[in-house]
Amino acid sequence: MAIEPGFLDELRARTPLTSVIGRRVKLVRSGKNWKGCCPFHGEKTPSFYVYDDHFHCFGCGVHGDVISFVMQMEGKNFPEAVEELATSAGMEVPKDTRRSHEEVARSQSLEDVLAQTQAIWSSALYAPAGKAGLDYLLGRGLTRQTIEDFGLGWAGDGRGGLSAALAAKNITPQMMAEAGLMRLDDEGRPKGELFWGRVTFPIRDRKGRLVSFGGRILGDGQPKYLNGPETALFSKRRLLFGLDKARAAVRAPHPKGTPPTDLIVVEGYMDVIGLHQAGFRGAVAPLGTALTPEQLEVLWQVDRAPILCFDGDAAGRRAAARAAEVALPLLKADHTLRVCLLPEGEDPDSLVRSRGQQVVGEMFATAAPLADVLFDLLAGGISNPGPEERAALRHKLVEAAGLIPDKALASEYRSTLLDRFFETFRRRKGKGGGGAFTPAARPSIGDGKPVVLDAMQERQRILLALLLRYPEVVPEVEDALCRLSLPDAFSEVRGLLLDLSAEGALPETGEALLSALEGEEEEEMVQQVLRGGPLPLSFEEKDSSLAVAVRTQWWHFYGLLNFSQFQQEVEQEVARFWQKGGDSAEWKRLQPRLEALARLKRGEMEEHGL
Ligand code: UTP
Ligand code: MN
Repeated sequence: MAIEPGFLDELRARTPLTSVIGRRVKLVRSGKNWKGCCPFHGEKTPSFYVYDDHFHCFGCGVHGDVISFVMQMEGKNFPEAVEELATSAGMEVPKDTRRSHEEVARSQSLEDVLAQTQAIWSSALYAPAGKAGLDYLLGRGLTRQTIEDFGLGWAGDGRGGLSAALAAKNITPQMMAEAGLMRLDDEGRPKGELFWGRVTFPIRDRKGRLVSFGGRILGDGQPKYLNGPETALFSKRRLLFGLDKARAAVRAPHPKGTPPTDLIVVEGYMDVIGLHQAGFRGAVAPLGTALTPEQLEVLWQVDRAPILCFDGDAAGRRAAARAAEVALPLLKADHTLRVCLLPEGEDPDSLVRSRGQQVVGEMFATAAPLADVLFDLLAGGISNPGPEERAALRHKLVEAAGLIPDKALASEYRSTLLDRFFETFRRRKGKGGGGAFTPAARPSIGDGKPVVLDAMQERQRILLALLLRYPEVVPEVEDALCRLSLPDAFSEVRGLLLDLSAEGALPETGEALLSALEGEEEEEMVQQVLRGGPLPLSFEEKDSSLAVAVRTQWWHFYGLLNFSQFQQEVEQEVARFWQKGGDSAEWKRLQPRLEALARLKRGEMEEHGL
């Protein structure tokens, strides 16, 4: 790309990678560098590392510099990404060197190859040789107008007809290969046309430029669909079929009194076309793959809450859960999703034809916000779970919400998910009520005997012991408590506290909590946490009441577990406080955290030998 290297170097220098990535991904210090959960694949433990001048994910292998991060994240091409970064850095891209002449000429010639091919194939559909293709499309309920609108065509019999017709226009097999119309042999030499005996679907980018083709076999046969390969013009990860039309329809002003056009993501070419024909002009589809992060970003540039459609069967629900996991790390208040689960075994194309436009319209209109369906997707199939299964599910829900980088939104999702969890699977009450769940079967931190915990575990134990002694603190630290990653036995104690808090059944004092648990199955594990050692509370501190001391200590130990994350969280809380202009009660609630942070900064990390 012919943008002056000097300009690009300066651009990279002025746009630090950590700040560009930090806006999207929650980064924590890792030695000299930073790490976080990879935004390009769903993951729960960070394997995405950000160095001075490049990033690398050890999970999925993506890597690059600041420019390629923007390209991959937002589905932009190189000049667009450079432009965006330059704008936010207050720099101007030198004008006429944006693309080299060769490059422009080359992509123009590829576009030309595709355009010539399109002309040949679409007229072939109406020639005698293409009659089978035309009949197939008409037989699937498409009108001639729709066939025309989408530029559907017929690829001929594959005996070199396309090559010959293009050769007459000085287009070589080499150029056809570059445009994705020729198969290549091992040495990269053209060895036969890719598409034949198929109806063809032109694939256009969001601006309507032709970039590739898909083709469907008539009737049964494998592969049912064929898509052009990746080329200089065509990237499957970024494109969606129908996006040019959908984008125009969603953005068009809609007449008063009518709802705006929804952006609807379906599975296949025929779904997009069938929906368009039925008046749902916002339909798009990925190109035979699961939705990628890049495609999501592209969708959000068009609509703040696209509707994702899935078959209501088990496989469809799994696909929906996967899509949700890809989307969570990218969600923001104005970047969300709606989900529409269709009747089992149906796709939108079959539905509009069997049930009609109105029924399908009602289905889209009742698509549920992701937050509302996420629970069903993640808890799918679990009924009457045992204690371990229950703990695992709750952990999964908390982790899923934790994937959302925006803290306010994450905590909204967390409470929605946990509310549903408690509504659906109430804790079983009574002595040994869980049946199979005996203390012996539970992962344990020791069989009643004092065990030696390492410093990390001792800090975790203290955090829980403080809450068991002073349960009133639980609601104030709930979010942070959820974020901790704890070993199984501790995680169960946390679960107990969260359960009780969510059920509004948390006693006000530690004594009351203990007597409420007397004879309950949880009593032993709670005792184990409390028996581990005394609480690090010194009440001599002059002007700090017990209530403040407990809270300060809690945050202190929380900070000890992960100082840089704690510091970042406190800074965000304070920034949010000033932004919203919170009241004095709120400021008071922040005090223990600020005091804990100040202590940690003063170097009291070593206090209590921890
Ligand atoms: P489906 O197999 O679900 O088919 O493929 P469909 O869209 O309902 O197709 P019809 O109705 O039988 O014509 C969904 C999408 O998956 C990709 C295509 O993009 C297709 O539109 N696909 C499917 C392939 O790329 N290759 C295949 O062999 C099959
Ligand atoms: Mn179909």
